[in-house]
Amino acid sequence: MASTTYSPMLQDQDRYQKVLKTYWRICTQRQVQSEFFRSTLLDILANIGNGKSQLNIIGVGSGDGKVDVEMLSQLRLKHPGLLLENEVVDPSPRWIHEFREMVADMSDLDPVKFIWNQMTDSEFEEQWRQREIKKKADFIHLIHVLYFVEDAGAAISFFQSLLEKTGKLLIDVVSDKSHYMNLWEMFHNELRPHQKLEVPFINSNYIKKLLDKRGVPYQSYELQCVLDITACFTEGDETGEILLDFLTQMMFFSKTASPDLKQRILRQLRDPQCSVEKDGKSYTALTRK
Ligand SMILES: C[S@@+](CC[C@H](N)C(=O)[O-])C[C@H]1O[C@@H](n2cnc3c(N)ncnc32)[C@H](O)[C@@H]1O
Repeated sequence: MASTTYSPMLQDQDRYQKVLKTYWRICTQRQVQSEFFRSTLLDILANIGNGKSQLNIIGVGSGDGKVDVEMLSQLRLKHPGLLLENEVVDPSPRWIHEFREMVADMSDLDPVKFIWNQMTDSEFEEQWRQREIKKKADFIHLIHVLYFVEDAGAAISFFQSLLEKTGKLLIDVVSDKSHYMNLWEMFHNELRPHQKLEVPFINSNYIKKLLDKRGVPYQSYELQCVLDITACFTEGDETGEILLDFLTQMMFFSKTASPDLKQRILRQLRDPQCSVEKDGKSYTALTRK
């Protein structure tokens, strides 16, 4: 199994948090996710934990935890009376701290017991094996985290092995058909000069092929979210520069990229392959599966 990306974005946690928070604020992703959880995911999870008094959930790469909390709140409504035990796996002390602070004063999450694992997916796996933990999970989610793990295939296998028979694994990655992927495919060599070419950028196609090869049945959903990238075209605009970091996955792209690369990326971002214009604004579609 090919090992996956190592993102330079993770090296500067201050900047990375700023980039992600800006992205979450401007992109319609969270709104779209929320609709998906309410309309589709809850039905998919209707039968998990049948006959049990407790639901075991594992969230991998939870970030600020807002998405996890939304799912936990929905699950509580769907399975009233059940105790929810939620393991959080994230190596970032800042994100774990932020998540803990948020849930500390959320009384409506009372029957949820949190277990905090400040570590990577592979450290979590090692800990699980060393402690010979036999617990099985009813629901595990990997939301926008597989880009960062050492080996996406191995991570999927491990978390799958933790599932109860009726358990579900949710994987959320960018669609291979998104505008974003077009930009990445075109500038692959320049944006990731140190990465071997055969190392793929994790997207929906990569995950589907991997599951197909293993004969794992799955359901795939396409969520349409859009990011307003208009600010990227205003020289010196702070929000624009932050969004460019996100789009290129290069820290301080505007300051560190060569003027030539910057110009070509901006030109490409205006191209219909990478964005659409509406009411004087540019939107890039980050369809996800
Ligand atoms: C893009 S954020 C996604 C946050 C959240 N799931 C969401 O979609 O709102 C990626 C998260 O994965 C975490 N992360 C990075 N490498 C990881 C690893 N090897 N194992 C687990 N989490 C990791 C980061 O610290 C960050 O919180």
